[in-house]
Amino acid sequence: MTNGPDTKTKMQMPQNIYDNETFFEGYMALRAAELNANDIMIRPHMRELIGEASGLQVLDIGCGAGEMCRWLVDSGAASVTGIDLSERMLAAADEQPRERIRYIHTAAEDAQFGPNSFDLVASVLMLHYIKDIGPLLRNIHTWLRPGGRFVFSMEHPQMTAGQGILEPGWVLNDDGERIAWAVTSYSDESERVSTWFVDGVVRYHRTMATLINSLVDAGFRIERMLEPHAPEEFEKRHPRLLQERMRPAFLFVSAEVVK
Ligand SMILES: C[S@@+](CC[C@H](N)C(=O)[O-])C[C@H]1O[C@@H](n2cnc3c(N)ncnc32)[C@H](O)[C@@H]1O
Repeated sequence: MTNGPDTKTKMQMPQNIYDNETFFEGYMALRAAELNANDIMIRPHMRELIGEASGLQVLDIGCGAGEMCRWLVDSGAASVTGIDLSERMLAAADEQPRERIRYIHTAAEDAQFGPNSFDLVASVLMLHYIKDIGPLLRNIHTWLRPGGRFVFSMEHPQMTAGQGILEPGWVLNDDGERIAWAVTSYSDESERVSTWFVDGVVRYHRTMATLINSLVDAGFRIERMLEPHAPEEFEKRHPRLLQERMRPAFLFVSAEVVK
């Protein structure tokens, strides 16, 4: 094996794990399962932060199978552009076509749009896959119109700090009950490689301070942040969800562009 230019280029490309067949099938089965995190927490809180979508021109970064894109146009968005690195995810999105949605196969890091192209940029559980968020945040700031908003969810930094959600960090008592979540290596901002359906899944850990400062440095004003646990109606029906109160698994941020 040589270390020629092709090898170098490949090593710098973002990982496209959602196109791995085993990973893709595992992930889609998880999304279809009862009590999945998307249904309980992600979708309701994203919709809460986005609010009124009517008439908006929207970009969804890491749109996956297009669930958010479909909700946006069904809620009256003028147009939605969904971008994703994974051909398998985009093929799943294409199975439920809608007028006013276009999908583009690209890495977020390589995406190109004109200045002031969108009113809203949304992103669901994608940002922890980005190695260097500074350039992407600056691009999103450019792509948004004055007064536009970037609304996103991601794995909470305390989940990516140690082994994270992919290799659970629960601390058990002598009876095997979950009593705490171990946060380790929080200050070590770097790649995390874990096993989730397959070995070698790459995510990037950064502290809450780095995330917020990166948004501010890119020209955003933080409007609202959420660190939710499961809704009480679900906790009553499924008491094991009460353990989600021990640590937030997800972080939601709504940020307004300052221009
Ligand atoms: C957890 S899934 C979420 C999908 C979708 N946002 C949803 O909530 O249903 C993460 C998505 O981000 C995409 N992704 C990961 N890294 C990416 C990158 N560098 N550029 C664009 N998309 C990426 C994956 O292919 C995958 O579809």
